[in-house]
This record gives sequence, C-alpha cells and structure tokens, in this order.
Amino acid sequence: MTYLIIDRRRCSLACILLATLICAVMIGFPSASSADEALDARVQRFLDDQTRDWRDLNVPYQDGKILHDIVVEHGFTRAVEIGTSTGHSTIWIAWAMSKTGGQLTTVEIDERRYNQARENVAEAGLSDYVEFVLGDAHQIVPRLEGSFDFVFSDADKDWYVNYFDALYPKLTGNACFTAHNVRESRIRSGRWQAQYLAHVRTVSDMETILHPDARAGVAVTCKK
Ligand SMILES: C[S@@+](CC[C@H](N)C(=O)[O-])C[C@H]1O[C@@H](n2cnc3c(N)ncnc32)[C@H](O)[C@@H]1O
Repeated sequence: MTYLIIDRRRCSLACILLATLICAVMIGFPSASSADEALDARVQRFLDDQTRDWRDLNVPYQDGKILHDIVVEHGFTRAVEIGTSTGHSTIWIAWAMSKTGGQLTTVEIDERRYNQARENVAEAGLSDYVEFVLGDAHQIVPRLEGSFDFVFSDADKDWYVNYFDALYPKLTGNACFTAHNVRESRIRSGRWQAQYLAHVRTVSDMETILHPDARAGVAVTCKK
C-alpha cells in the first residue's frame, strides 16, 4: 500500500515535470523560425536605416543583395571577403551565412574601417557569422587555411588576379569567385577589368559572367 502511494506521487511529479517542459518549449523558448525572423527583421532594419550613410567606397545596396542571393541560392557556407571597408557587403554576405549556417572571413587593411565594420556588423546582429582580420590582404589571403566556396574580391583592383590565383587552389568543386567593379563599359578600354576578365576566362573548369543586374559591376566566376 505504501509503495503504491509513493509510485503515484512519483508519477504525478514526473507528469508535472513533463508538462512544465512542454510548456517551456512551446511558450518560454522562441522557436528556430521566430529567431530567424527576428534576425531577418533586425538586419533589414539596419540596412534600411543605413542606406544613405555608406561613405567608405561601399557596394551599392543592389550589389550587396546580389552577393547575398548567390550565397543563399548555392547554399555556400565558407566565404572570404577581401576589402571589408565599413562592412556593407560584409553584412549582406553574413546575412546569407546566417541562413546557410556558414561563416565569413573578411580582410581589411584600414583600422578605422575595420573597427567601424565590427560595430556595424554587431549592430545588425551578425557578429556570430563573421571573422574580421585586420591587415594587408596581399600577405593574409595566400595564408588563409581551409577550403572556400564563395569569395568576394573588393580591395585593390590591380591585385585582383593575384587574389584569384591565391585562392583558386582552395576553391571547392562548386565554388563561385566574385569580383566587384568589373563592368562591360570598362573592359573595352583595356583597363584592369579587361586583364582580370581575360585571366579568369583562361581557367578551364570555371565560367565567368558579368551579373546583368549589378549597379557597379559584379563578375561571377563559378565552377562548371
Ligand atoms: C571598395 S572598398 C570595400 C567596400 C566593402 N566591400 C563594402 O561594400 O563595404 C575597398 C577596401 O579595401 C581595402 N583595401 C585596399 N587594399 C587592401 C589590402 N591590400 N589589404 C586589405 N584591404 C585593402 C581598403 O582599405 C577599402 O576599405
């Protein structure tokens, strides 16, 4: 009889604990999708508020969105950005990484811009997705360890070919390497854009297009 009472008490305690746990999961903790929605709203609000305040050679909104969409569409998870500035394109790529579960490494030589980028990315709620590196990409990029499926090149233009060559052996089988400010109108004049395009078009396992919707030119070179 005593055993029966104890068992009943144990059972009621277990039931209460289980019910509490279910309630906590349903009410207490936000679901994954509501956390995602909250982050999306925070990033979008930051980008909307900041639209007119990018003053450090940052990409236009439209070009940032193009980078974001390429990453999400391909499900890329290991990204490198060369030329962080104050973090406009960083935010777009990091936002995409928050959706694919990836990580972005971004390199900037200018300390003020590097610090401002860190602040901007934190304000947008995306710090968990970005590793910031302060220094000269000429030295840092060839030493990056690992393999990468997405690259955005937006630092010193006369070094674009070298950045491409340094990262090409580390690209995954489905990777895309993107480069900013490569525009049709500049190619004819034999400038650095022409040299860069001619170079990437010699790579037999990759194909290059100039993104038709880019405002300031985005060359997209992807594995075939
Ligand atoms: C066009 S801006 C980048 C804009 C940035 N992607 C954005 O959308 O906000 C180019 C940046 O590359 C940086 N840069 C230039 N040469 C560099 C180098 N050798 N190593 C690292 N960063 C460099 C500049 O300081 C500048 O902030």
